[in-house]
Amino acid sequence: MRRLLPDPDPAVLDDAGLADAYRLTGRSVRVNFVGSLDGAIAVDGRSGALGSPGDKRVFRTLRALADVVLVGAGTATAEGYRPVAADSAVGALRSALGRPATAPIAVVSRRASLAPGDELAVDSTILVTCAAADATRRAALAEAGVTVLVCGDDDVDLPTALDLLAARGLEQVVCEGGPALFAAALAARCVDELDLTLAPALVGGDTRLVPATLPEVVRPRLVQLLEEDGVLFTRYALGA
Ligand SMILES: NC(=O)c1ccc[n+]([C@@H]2O[C@H](COP(=O)([O-])OP(=O)(O)OC[C@H]3O[C@@H](n4cnc5c(N)ncnc54)[C@H](OP(=O)(O)O)[C@@H]3O)[C@@H](O)[C@H]2O)c1
Repeated sequence: MRRLLPDPDPAVLDDAGLADAYRLTGRSVRVNFVGSLDGAIAVDGRSGALGSPGDKRVFRTLRALADVVLVGAGTATAEGYRPVAADSAVGALRSALGRPATAPIAVVSRRASLAPGDELAVDSTILVTCAAADATRRAALAEAGVTVLVCGDDDVDLPTALDLLAARGLEQVVCEGGPALFAAALAARCVDELDLTLAPALVGGDTRLVPATLPEVVRPRLVQLLEEDGVLFTRYALGA
């Protein structure tokens, strides 16, 4: 993988160089997606067909740098999310970077739709939900060890959720989508960075990066561009 912007040196990024290229300081929310050239983010309901070895590397790096992985319930189900294991590639990279080997997965679900028997219904998982979610289900998940954060009454209030995560020391957030969560986070103005992998593919259809019309046009600023095998890895800043 090579850096094209802002500085094409070093020519090739090793794991440590890639981590440096994506490192953030302070409290932050970065959103990571892979998309096709026409803005599709899934083929047959999953992102895998858009992936590449470079995208997997960036995905692992962003997980390794994060304090917590934030994901919508739809994506957690569609992509078969599991807890981050210490003996996984991400765990090894985290250890190599001097970080705790695992990071919690925080699932955002208005309905608390995680089921007590799910792979994610374990004590490392955080459920970000609201008071309108079924109280019995919330209690069952808490009983299974899940940390249940009630953020808002009728809907999940994302800024409150981020404050509660930060209060637990989880300040650097990588949000892995999906589109519904991304749209809500954009509308709530809580996204600092979009890390979008552009796969050289045209997919069509209506499974898009942002599925809803936003209240205003957002104009991200390109801060970094990497390339490998024709795949572009962008870093866009959304903050001031
Ligand atoms: N290409 C990529 O990088 C990428 C990344 C992620 C996902 N995807 C694809 O995206 C598709 C899934 O899309 P999606 O829109 O269903 O994903 P999603 O945003 O992960 O899931 C939507 C669900 O998450 C919960 N949710 C999301 N935002 C919320 C909010 N602000 N407040 C409360 N709950 C919220 C709700 O769950 P409840 O219904 O439980 O309340 C909602 O029904 C899959 O095909 C997946 O493969 C692609």
